[in-house]
Amino acid sequence: MPDTSRALLTDAAERAIRYLEGLDARGVAPSAEAVARLAQLDVPLPDGPSDARDVLAELDALGSPATMAMAGARFFGFVIGGALPAAVAANWLATAWDQNTGRYDVTPSTAVLEHVALRWLLDVLRLPNDCAGGFVTGTTVAHVTALAAARHAVLARAGWNVEADGLFGAPPITVVVGAEAHPTLLKALGVLGLGRSRVVTVPVDGQGRMRADALPPLDARTIVVAQAGNVNTGAFDPVAEICDRAEPAGAWVHVDGAFGLWARAVPQLAHLADGAERADSWATDGHKWLNVPYDSGVAIVRDADALRGAMSVSAEYLPTASVQRDPSEYTPELSRRARGVDVWAALRSLGRSGVAELVERNCRQARRFADVLREGGFEILNDVVLNQVLVSFGDPEATRRATAALQADGTCWCGGTVWQGRTALRISVSSWATTDADVERSAEAIVRAGKQSTAMNSNSRHSIP
Ligand SMILES: Cc1ncc(COP(=O)(O)O)c(C=O)c1O
Repeated sequence: MPDTSRALLTDAAERAIRYLEGLDARGVAPSAEAVARLAQLDVPLPDGPSDARDVLAELDALGSPATMAMAGARFFGFVIGGALPAAVAANWLATAWDQNTGRYDVTPSTAVLEHVALRWLLDVLRLPNDCAGGFVTGTTVAHVTALAAARHAVLARAGWNVEADGLFGAPPITVVVGAEAHPTLLKALGVLGLGRSRVVTVPVDGQGRMRADALPPLDARTIVVAQAGNVNTGAFDPVAEICDRAEPAGAWVHVDGAFGLWARAVPQLAHLADGAERADSWATDGHKWLNVPYDSGVAIVRDADALRGAMSVSAEYLPTASVQRDPSEYTPELSRRARGVDVWAALRSLGRSGVAELVERNCRQARRFADVLREGGFEILNDVVLNQVLVSFGDPEATRRATAALQADGTCWCGGTVWQGRTALRISVSSWATTDADVERSAEAIVRAGKQSTAMNSNSRHSIP
């Protein structure tokens, strides 16, 4: 390797380390000035080459300050956690390897790492150990992948080859979802030609859980999608009851377990997702609770033939299937980075007890948020069963104002939402980096923002003649 490359990669590592070390001292959201400076990136395509050191320096000078501190300890938005050091380091090394992880014969190292990572995932999530799976970009694409397998299997039973003949003239399939299904699930159904709106929607209760008693009749051409972990409340659909209905009917059960499936890694929380092991397919994220860098999702399917039937590709120039696991047999992509390496590193570094500790700690921290905010006089809108807390600061305007004030304050970052008609601040605790001290500091900032906002409400009421 030329000296210039060595110096460049060392410089990149040092800049990345400085960035990570600086996160605690800066506001979580980027400053308006840093965001405004991004305009300097918007220049015409350079006519000629530039020195790579200058490219990196410009990226760091303009890009780094305008990032959201998602890798830090006090980002509580979107149910996503910062990346574990072992996973970041593995990601860097795997990037240097630059393996096009399609076939074992060509990229044995990353193919084996993904094989092992999948085996460990099934173990830690307590899913059947002979399931097949593919490492994809996130739960959205994991849905597309797993539901393509579902579509394959359900139509194959009806004597239809959907990969060959498409959906034109195919026997109809019924897809059953809860009224609180995540929008990406509906998007996946749209991508697959199953229709975002052409679903049977089952009503939910006050926590967003599908009401199993309201399920429609199921049959062998039905796909039922259950959710383990509602993006607002953290609540779980009654998967066991859903499976009780689906199994005798021969329906396919898919579980959206983007983050909630990880409750199964914690003995005290596993009951929340009881029955999930009976499903036919699952979608989950690595970049949420396993804290691996973006992007990382996993599609898991009990029937390996169905997943391969939906995803495999062959061509004269490609090595023919080996006895080893060929990653491209299980993912929509042929060429792709070895995402499973980051998953492998996270699981290798945490071990079973480390995963359980991370998930359990974040849930305990969520309960602490709820306690402090209740003590501060604010209403918690959900049962805090997992890592999600919804808080209201009064009327919608007061809550929106508190959310904006909190985001501007910079101590921590939480997003807003509307939960069953109530405007709320949404706190998601999902990071290895979050300490109990971070929670105390952040909860104080939220109480401060809430009190300011409610004080403005009463001031404006007093000023009305
Ligand atoms: C329940 C649920 N399903 C699906 C998704 C989509 O996941 P991704 O953004 O990784 O595609 C999310 C994201 O928050 C989620 O919470």
